[in-house]
Amino acid sequence: MAAIEIKKDIYWVGAVDWNIRDFHGYSTDKGTSYNAYLIKDEKIALFDTVKKELKGDLIHHLYQVLGDPSKIDYIIVNHVEMDHSGSLRELIDLIKPEKIFCSPMGKKALLEHFHREDWPYQVVATGDFISLGTRTVQFLETKMLHWPDSMFSYIPEDKLLISSDAFGHHWATSERFDDEVDSHELMMHASKYYANILMIFSPIVQKLLAQLKDLGLQIEMIAPDHGVIWRTSPETIMVAYDRWSQSETKNKAVIIYDTMWDSTEKMAKALLNSLQREGITQIKLLHARKNHRSDIMSEVLDARAVILGSPTLNNNIMPAMADIITYMKGLRPKDKIGAAFGSFGWSGEAVKHLTGHMTDMGFAIVGEGVKIKNVPTHESLEACSELGRMVAEAMRK
Ligand code: FEO
Repeated sequence: MAAIEIKKDIYWVGAVDWNIRDFHGYSTDKGTSYNAYLIKDEKIALFDTVKKELKGDLIHHLYQVLGDPSKIDYIIVNHVEMDHSGSLRELIDLIKPEKIFCSPMGKKALLEHFHREDWPYQVVATGDFISLGTRTVQFLETKMLHWPDSMFSYIPEDKLLISSDAFGHHWATSERFDDEVDSHELMMHASKYYANILMIFSPIVQKLLAQLKDLGLQIEMIAPDHGVIWRTSPETIMVAYDRWSQSETKNKAVIIYDTMWDSTEKMAKALLNSLQREGITQIKLLHARKNHRSDIMSEVLDARAVILGSPTLNNNIMPAMADIITYMKGLRPKDKIGAAFGSFGWSGEAVKHLTGHMTDMGFAIVGEGVKIKNVPTHESLEACSELGRMVAEAMRK
């Protein structure tokens, strides 16, 4: 990859991570990128760095654009998480910047990560701005998007929003812009990223979108810290964030289950058939050990109903279901309809546990759950069909 000029004298200088497949528990089947940006003005500013292992790519790009990276005057740390700050120590040694701009929480986080009191920090808050010469950088704190330290940098002269984690996605590409990649795949990666990283912060996303509107920022380009840059239609991703953060759903149900000897799977299929007969247009059957938790959460994002199934194992649910439920609880999906089912051999507590977990998440529970002892018959599966009918009815309301 080469450094790429994204606007006059503004460059993408980040790194593409083609090989990462697990981003702290999130499956990155198609890799990701860590985007850093460079503005060449009377002052030269670097926005964020990259993961430590890829610092050579960033430094190479800086040599490509500047000849000598020590020409950089300012480093702007929009976010301290190590996928963006991992190369900071080496970059600061190389560049010896005049100033490092960060949010108040950013300074705390930098000290806690790097333990360097001697770096030339300059703390900036929402509304503060600095001049690079012909350009201005305005700062907007975006606490919890994704960490307490996160902030946006807005360059009004270029109508450019450097948005840190927000509006990003994990996808390694040689292309750098939204209009150069398949739009369907782009939105698929963006929605997976939202579901797995930002869903928990949806109320904050709503406030941020309102704040951007109130500030009247003219946004021609959004340059996030992961994935491609939104230059053709930045509004596409902002509209999608509005929809996702309002928990907008489709006529869609997901059935997430594990099975021991296929009995719970038979129940899952009976539920699917029933939902189909009831006119539910999208139904996903997701085996907990065959689908990654982060792909399951992508499907949960826009589903109206989430139906959980597990056989009883040692008076509890199957471990893969516990994994997914723990993960789901942390991400706090809202406004879902829930239902539970599962087979059992003698004690049969799984349905009770599944229902309890969904109640904890605030789901509107339909029915009392269906339990079938050992192997279902055509007749006993009728209880699953009935549960499907009840879920579909709740979805129509
Ligand atoms: Fe891409 Fe919160 O780091």
